[in-house]
Amino acid sequence: MTTKIILDCDPGHDDAIALLLAHGNPNIELVAVTTVHGNQTIEKVTRNALAVATVAGITGVPFAAGAHRPLVRTPEVAESIHGDSGLDGPVLPEPAFEAEDRHAVDLIIDTIMSSEPGTITLVPTGALTNIALAVRKEPRIAERVKEVVLMGGGYHVGNWSAAAEFNIVIDPEAAHIVFNEKWKLTMVGLDLTHQALATPDVVAAIAAVDTKPARFVLELLEFFAESYKDAQGFDHPPVHDPCAVALVIDPSVMSVVRVPLDIELTGSLTLGMTVADFRSAAPEDCTTYAATDLDHAKFWSLIVDALERIGDPV
Ligand code: BDR
Ligand code: CA
Repeated sequence: MTTKIILDCDPGHDDAIALLLAHGNPNIELVAVTTVHGNQTIEKVTRNALAVATVAGITGVPFAAGAHRPLVRTPEVAESIHGDSGLDGPVLPEPAFEAEDRHAVDLIIDTIMSSEPGTITLVPTGALTNIALAVRKEPRIAERVKEVVLMGGGYHVGNWSAAAEFNIVIDPEAAHIVFNEKWKLTMVGLDLTHQALATPDVVAAIAAVDTKPARFVLELLEFFAESYKDAQGFDHPPVHDPCAVALVIDPSVMSVVRVPLDIELTGSLTLGMTVADFRSAAPEDCTTYAATDLDHAKFWSLIVDALERIGDPV
């Protein structure tokens, strides 16, 4: 059974790998790719998304650029992790096609509203600005999507502050809107993605695929490893964003618990924290979930398998 997804992303090294996984896995139908400010400016991440699509041979999927800044806060980029281009490391090809003129928010709404109810899964791997704007512009999408599976947040640790994760803290008001809608929402946060380390055996398995897209991933991982070592002291880089796609492909790749989640908007030390209430069993009407434990081997075999299927596009 295939699941139709909209990938809303800010490539970004790990977003790029998420896109390759979504394209290469037979259980996923990529119905739209939308971009949002975050790891770099909207111009840069949109160009990166198109360049990655060109490497992977993605055709016939609409791409659209979205919000250029957060709803309220001053824009912030993650140059220390992703470099000046947002995708430093590999030489990027000239994109083979262009983004649509349509705004990402409209592409998201149009795609959901023109599809059968309950068939589209939203997979945001960047700031939640586009998703918040979309559900404010067309509230009916909240009951029409199948679910939201996002990379962001974390229930016990942050990375952009002691308490908050980058995708959430750069636009906490947008995250507040998205986490408080009545759709099923799963937070694939740092608790989970810090287990998705690109260890040497993983790098060797990707190298063995020996295609252009696989070599592209190796170059991404090489840069990512250096920046995560320098900026956050990791021995091996955590490859966050494909974890959200992996959960859509195969729920057995990680454990998930149902738990009330909300976004801190006023704390001076905790702005953008994703607060999880583990005090007792989640109430009946709770629709939020948090990912906890990753099957590392299964996760990386999905990535290797996707790269093998993609092969060397002409
Ligand atoms: C998240 O922030 C971005 O830098 C990554 O692409 C990922 O989505 C991790 O905190
Ligand atoms: Ca991202």
